[in-house]
Amino acid sequence: MKIGVPKEQKVREDRVAITPLEVKLLKKHSHDVFIEKNAGLGSGFSDEEYQNAGALIFNNPQEIYEKSEIIVKVKEPQPSEYSLLKKNQILFTYLHLAVEKALTQELLDRKVTAIAYETIQTKDGQLPLLVPMSEVAGKMSIQIAANLLENRNGGAGILLGGIAGVAKGKVLIIGAGNVGINAAKIAVGMGADVSIADINTNKLRNIDNIFGSKVKTYVSSEPVLKELTKQTDVLIGAVLIPGHKAPSIITEDMVKNMKKGSVIVDVSIDQGGIVETIDRITTIDNPSYEKYGVIHYSVANIPGSVARTSTIALTNETIKYLINIADLGIIEAIKSDPSLAKGINTYNGKLTNIGVAQALNLEYTELPSLIGF
Ligand SMILES: NC(=O)c1ccc[n+]([C@@H]2O[C@H](COP(=O)([O-])OP(=O)(O)OC[C@H]3O[C@@H](n4cnc5c(N)ncnc54)[C@H](O)[C@@H]3O)[C@@H](O)[C@H]2O)c1
Repeated sequence: MKIGVPKEQKVREDRVAITPLEVKLLKKHSHDVFIEKNAGLGSGFSDEEYQNAGALIFNNPQEIYEKSEIIVKVKEPQPSEYSLLKKNQILFTYLHLAVEKALTQELLDRKVTAIAYETIQTKDGQLPLLVPMSEVAGKMSIQIAANLLENRNGGAGILLGGIAGVAKGKVLIIGAGNVGINAAKIAVGMGADVSIADINTNKLRNIDNIFGSKVKTYVSSEPVLKELTKQTDVLIGAVLIPGHKAPSIITEDMVKNMKKGSVIVDVSIDQGGIVETIDRITTIDNPSYEKYGVIHYSVANIPGSVARTSTIALTNETIKYLINIADLGIIEAIKSDPSLAKGINTYNGKLTNIGVAQALNLEYTELPSLIGF
């Protein structure tokens, strides 16, 4: 098949959807790979490396979209790319459609087969293409928060780990999944006072098994969060209900009662976020704003800030799906791997992800009824 990799258009998105190593693997399977000029630069991969691996370099995205049967990306197409999408083209990328109504409608109208990395789900419920980016974002979230706590950034001037005779900064992580665990690893490593809340006690048990007495665990509920947020220096949003919009858990009143100069990093923002006072997605270039004396950070592509690590981590996981789709075609690939079926969000003008359909109030169609399996 012909596989196209455009340069990412999202602000400061320096990741790229495949590396020269994956080009070599795809070439071994007799596929053609088209890369937009400079697409890999932000992740440290030059056009020459791609060419040496067997890719063809194109000067603009138009040619890539025009010539490719599969478009592989990192983030969702931006409005400037919508008109480039073609009927029956396969789009393989992060999409987060539950909060992207205009894009969803474009994918439906243009009859694109859109496969969302974040909804590919294995039998045991794992989301293999979300995990590596959640690991990166979780680790980054504490690094970011520690920075925002500095006076020069409007923070309360608190060193997360404290020192002898001075209290440690208090970190509250909501959600004990991949983001939450990785945030906790860094926060504990920095010597902070760390708490995690989740509604799933098995997730909390896991935290207890990993961190023991270094992390306090709480069953998440409104009264519990109301008390905890009053003392928190750093709040990390790390909640996910797969395919659905994130629930609004941190109310405006809770934020009003947080300490001045405290910091909220809502990693869940790509699914709409869990904080009532976050009313916008921010960018890596202009990532935070202040409301009620609390610094809010709501970047939806945090891993884009550490593009080299993130690109390699992501492509390590995406390549086997990409080879499978390119080798077998979409229908046989789905039949051979049910986890891929969960990734199909739109197919031939129909919306095939129930969570997205509910979030956007659009009609849902079961995928098997469309492809006959
Ligand atoms: N902003 C970014 O750049 C970025 C990067 C990577 C991941 N993410 C997002 O981070 C979020 C978390 O991802 P993850 O991989 O950790 O998911 P996960 O499924 O591993 O963990 C989510 C956790 O949220 C918990 N949860 C669900 N509802 C809850 C509630 N009401 N209260 C408390 N906890 C609740 C679940 O029990 C689960 O433990 C997702 O929205 C993901 O898309 C964002």
